[in-house]
Parts: sequence; C-alpha cells; structure tokens
Amino acid sequence: MKIYLLGSMDAAALSVWQRHLQAEMPEDQVLTSLAPEQKAEVEVAVVANPEPNALLGLPGLRLIQSLWAGVDRLVADPSLPPGVPVCRMVDPQMNVAMAETGQWAVLALHRGFFRYARQQAQACWQPLAQRRADEVRVLVLGWGQMGLALGLRLAAMGYRVSAWRASEEHSGAAEHLGVSVHAGPQALAPALAEVDVLINLLPLTPATRGLLNAPCFAALPQGASVVNLARGAHLVEADLLAALDAGHLSHAVLDVFATEPLPADHPFWQHPAITVLPHAAAQTDPRSAAAVVAANVRALKAGEPLRHVVDVARGY
Ligand code: GLV
Repeated sequence: MKIYLLGSMDAAALSVWQRHLQAEMPEDQVLTSLAPEQKAEVEVAVVANPEPNALLGLPGLRLIQSLWAGVDRLVADPSLPPGVPVCRMVDPQMNVAMAETGQWAVLALHRGFFRYARQQAQACWQPLAQRRADEVRVLVLGWGQMGLALGLRLAAMGYRVSAWRASEEHSGAAEHLGVSVHAGPQALAPALAEVDVLINLLPLTPATRGLLNAPCFAALPQGASVVNLARGAHLVEADLLAALDAGHLSHAVLDVFATEPLPADHPFWQHPAITVLPHAAAQTDPRSAAAVVAANVRALKAGEPLRHVVDVARGY
C-alpha cells in the first residue's frame, strides 16, 4: 500500500516521521513526495496540519490519518475529498504530555511561581501567602481524552477540579472520579463563577471559536487565571489583554495563538502577566504515534472499524 506523508513540518522532521512510520509498516511504502504516476496509487494520507488543497488529486484515497490531535484546519479545508474517513491522533503519550503541561501551569499559578520569576528579575525577595491545593478550584474546558487525563491528575494532586464539555450529550452534572462534570452551554456561566484556574482543552469548532472572550472573563472571579492549551482562535486576544490590564485576571499561560509563530512585536511576549509557550504543550511523538497510525492502516486493510474517526460536520 502507498502511504503519503505530508504536512507542516521541516524536511528533518518529515524524515524522522517517515522512518518511524516505515518501521511500523514494513510491508507498505511511506512516501514524502509523489511522482505524477504514483498519485492514483496512494490509499492513505498521513497528515500533520496540511495546507489547504494538499489532498487534491489523490483519487484512490481511503483514509486520512492526522498526526495532530486537533483537526480544525484539516476539516475546514473545502477540498477535503468527500466520503474519505478522517481520523485524528489519539495517543496516550500525547495525553500524558498535555496533562503534564496543565499540571505545571496549575501548580505554578497556585504556588505563585510565575510571580516569583517576575520578582527574581527585579531582585525582589518576597514570599507569598501559601495556599493549599484544596483551596484552588480548577475548571477544565473539554472532557475528551486530554481533559480527562489532566482532570484526573489534578484531582489526584488535591485540587478542586470540575470540567465542562460543550456537548449536552450527557447533560447535567456528573461526578467522574472526583471531578464534577458540567455539560452544555447553559452550564458554562455557573461553572465559570467558581474558578481560580480555567484551562482550555476544547476542540476548535464554530461553537467554541472565541469562547475565551470578555463575557467569559467577566464571569470568572476576580484574580482568576486562564490557561489556553487548545487553539489560538478560542481566545479573543484583545479581551484577554483588557481583563489582565484591568486587574480582573491575574495571569494567563498561552501555548497557542491566532498567528503562529507569535510575531516578535506581539504584546503577549513582553506582558508581565502572560507566560508564552511555542505551541509545545503536547507534541505528537513519532516513537508512540507511528504505532497508532499503523493500527488504523491495519484496520483499513482488514476492513475493521477505524479508530477515532472525525465527524467532519461536527468538526472533531
Ligand atoms: C497540536 O496542537 C495538535 O492538535 O496535535
């Protein structure tokens, strides 16, 4: 089977992925470029946030497997071949990485470590009041694979954790291993009112785009912090700056941005109450993710159900 690997990564990263994928699927041919006569033979595209139109002209395509967990750009591509299943990356190792980043952010916010870093820059020796973990309320937006991994770890660390999922499939509050889970748009405002740290792990869809905005921040208690580890388009950047500058929010940890890389003159870089990460909260790791891809390719060949198929209309 011919497998076409493409996406937003440099040649070195592409060749690392090719090596790992080829090792997992020795009987297949993993290609990073296609001669014109090979195009019709490609049955699987393995994609990392590809440019729009990148999948045009592949008439034999039977599976589009994303290396990214978030498929918002992929499903927004109007040239996506209709009827070809799109699968997102779900790798337990990636969930662990995301949970680690979330844990670090909550711990640093809880214990004032970002403030200590600012104080160090000013040679300021000033211990802060020490809170207990059970005095810190964390709300995780998004109760999928990553939200669950993070929520359970935070609960185990002693935080008061709740979660919110956009879909009302399981409406009403539920208790899930120490995490109270709220569902649906009506449940969001009451949940926001009880938060010290808000962490966004939602998929980007038309319903969640711009969710982190002025009304959302106004619903948070004075002094709350916001952590965005999902997509830049969830956040209305000007609203965040206004809420921080007014002193309503105390800090933001941001991994994702409307424009990436974050432009050098962007105000977030120098803002004393913002911590910037370079979209690195949870990177797909070829050492584990190549096996996830291979499992779906095997399922395709065997005519078995594919795992983590995206509902393109729903957007994730
Ligand atoms: C990264 O942001 C991903 O969606 O995998």
